[in-house]
Amino acid sequence: MDQITVTSPLLPSLDEFIPYLRDIWDRKWITNNGHYHQKLEGALCDYLGVKYLSLFTNGTIPLITALQALHITGEVITSPFSFVATTHSLWWNGIKPIFVDIDPITCNIEPTKIEAAITPKTTAIMPVHVYGMPCDTARIQEIADKYGLKVIYDAAHAFGVTVNGKSILEFGDMSTLSFHATKVFNTIEGGALVCCDAETKKRIDYLKNFGFAGETTIVAPGINGKMDEVRSAYGLLNLKQVDDAIEKRRQIANQYREGLKDVDGITYMNDIQGVHHNYSYFPIFVDAKKYGMTRDELYEKLKKSNILGRRYFYPLISTFSTYKGLDSAKQENLPIATQIADSVICLPMYAGLQEDSVERVLEGLKK
Ligand SMILES: Cc1ncc(COP(=O)(O)O)c(C=O)c1O
Repeated sequence: MDQITVTSPLLPSLDEFIPYLRDIWDRKWITNNGHYHQKLEGALCDYLGVKYLSLFTNGTIPLITALQALHITGEVITSPFSFVATTHSLWWNGIKPIFVDIDPITCNIEPTKIEAAITPKTTAIMPVHVYGMPCDTARIQEIADKYGLKVIYDAAHAFGVTVNGKSILEFGDMSTLSFHATKVFNTIEGGALVCCDAETKKRIDYLKNFGFAGETTIVAPGINGKMDEVRSAYGLLNLKQVDDAIEKRRQIANQYREGLKDVDGITYMNDIQGVHHNYSYFPIFVDAKKYGMTRDELYEKLKKSNILGRRYFYPLISTFSTYKGLDSAKQENLPIATQIADSVICLPMYAGLQEDSVERVLEGLKK
């Protein structure tokens, strides 16, 4: 049996890419805000419905840069149920992460638990739109306003997601995106930082280029976060097919849902009214007692049938050696996140996944 991988990258047509490469070779301008970089920034603003977006070399440096741009210090409230880069970005800025438990339905930070975690040192909240499911942005903003906190959303999974027609990237002070190969929209490696005004974008653009504001002027201790011309051109081509890719993902999600609706002990996420989803992942949650098998047993069983799921996110960030000594990392503080991390498997999901492969996954789950 062929292997069914958990993901497969969306690749632009090579025939269309080659003329772009020729043009880059002719221009001899291969990085530092070149022609394709500028075109991709503009195209992404149009596609995503945002005004101010800065391209980056990946999705981690924008997190680190957002914290720098907003002068965040002290403590930041965040979710342990994310990819490690979310919390690592705090650590790299010398900021103490404070973990708060998650909501069992959306898997996002639980707003009702945020206030209890605020101390005089808290300066910001860094929530994550996990699997592209929107956070409770209204409640989070209310808390942020009450305590004078900044909000930086890790929107690495939320490319193209809208809520009642408004981009999810418009909430909070800043949002970050990842364009890693595994994401709905990819530039091989890449990412972006979305902000609210032109002045802030200018500062972000200085910060991602070592702090250069002119030939001899350094305005801040910046970093090198720049996206090059080759990946920008690749991104422009991929953007043309992203709507089709999301539609295919939607069909796959519906095929999974239909096939799993009567399987006792397996639950999954449903669409939310008013939200345009991107179907970036298809997580299932295994109730070992009802299903008759633990999550890990199921994961291994699928693997034996050459079906690769991913325990995403597992283990929780709060259990890693760097963070596990923090008070907020204690397991009793994070019961829902612990339970979700111990029961989740993300099933194979990518635009090119064939109907019969989805059937094979479903058979593997039903047996
Ligand atoms: C939630 C989340 N945040 C941040 C990142 C980091 O993005 P990148 O891999 O592009 O640096 C990822 C990437 O997988 C992610 O899933």
